Amino acid sequence: MKNADHLTGITTTGTPHLGNYVGAIRPAIQSSREDNRQCYYFLADYHAIIKCQEPARIRQSALEVAATWIALGLDTDTSIFYRQTDIPEIPELTWILTCITAKGLMNRAHAYKAAVADNEAAGRKDLDKEISMGLFSYPILMAADILMFNARKVPVGRDQIQHLEMTRDIAGRFNHQFGEHFILPEAVVDETSAVLAGLDGRKMSKSYNNTIPLFETEKKLRKLIMKIKTNSLAPEEPKDPETCTLFAIYKAFATREETATMADRYREGIGWGTMKQELFEHLNEVLKGPREAYNELIKSPGDIDAVLKKGAIRAREYSVPMLDRVKKAIGIQAL
Ligand code: TRP
Repeated sequence: MKNADHLTGITTTGTPHLGNYVGAIRPAIQSSREDNRQCYYFLADYHAIIKCQEPARIRQSALEVAATWIALGLDTDTSIFYRQTDIPEIPELTWILTCITAKGLMNRAHAYKAAVADNEAAGRKDLDKEISMGLFSYPILMAADILMFNARKVPVGRDQIQHLEMTRDIAGRFNHQFGEHFILPEAVVDETSAVLAGLDGRKMSKSYNNTIPLFETEKKLRKLIMKIKTNSLAPEEPKDPETCTLFAIYKAFATREETATMADRYREGIGWGTMKQELFEHLNEVLKGPREAYNELIKSPGDIDAVLKKGAIRAREYSVPMLDRVKKAIGIQAL
């Protein structure tokens, strides 16, 4: 099996929303259609249990994320699509890497630092209160995800750049000590894909509770769009498309020409009610097909499992010999 040209993980704690689609899923699926590019995409369910300890939510999210990627057209014959928890070599490698990672490096990880800062701000005596070892060593698990398949490029959001630096650091240390076994990966941050605004105008994000789930029913989708915050300009007044959440969402799903036409209509004056209705119709048109596929898929979790298991079998064609090689390098082998 070929090593990963592109690899990325999706933490399975939520329901995929329009922002996930525009920022991560759509570019990943497009990228997977490039010739001669072996993509590894996986459900980071070991990462999910760091933040979420509700079993029902964990299971449901894995199902939804997997169904979403398949419904949106990921070709699971060419791309390798799997669950992290189906690859036992990953936690094994995590431990090996844990043993060569400086604790000081993890002290600098921003998720951990933010949690400490929260405790500090709340005036707590114990600055590590409620911080698990999972959160603390999260970047090592992520390094194992990446190094396991010798991934060259890792498409991620800005907030993950530090983790890629840490991965390179860990790989470099391993290679220095035990020989050149790991490729040093690079983060790929896609500056062209839009960061979508949510219902309240802030970045669409689960933590702001302002998301529009991708595969809501038509009725719910319409209702959510009607809730998007706008200013109080009257229908005929000229409006600025660039500062409007409705326009931003429209643009992320429209062609260049459609976007230009809509911008003209803003400047001429378009009523918010009209715009919301048109945005709904446009989105609904784009999402209708995938929504149907999604609703079908979600009814047969067994089929989704089968797709993921097939992905895991292929991934393990790489990870099993790779882990063997790593273990030999550190002196763990047949006596
Ligand atoms: N930590 C990533 C996130 O929250 C998800 C992730 C886990 C990941 N393992 C990965 C991304 C490996 C890229 C490569 O977005």
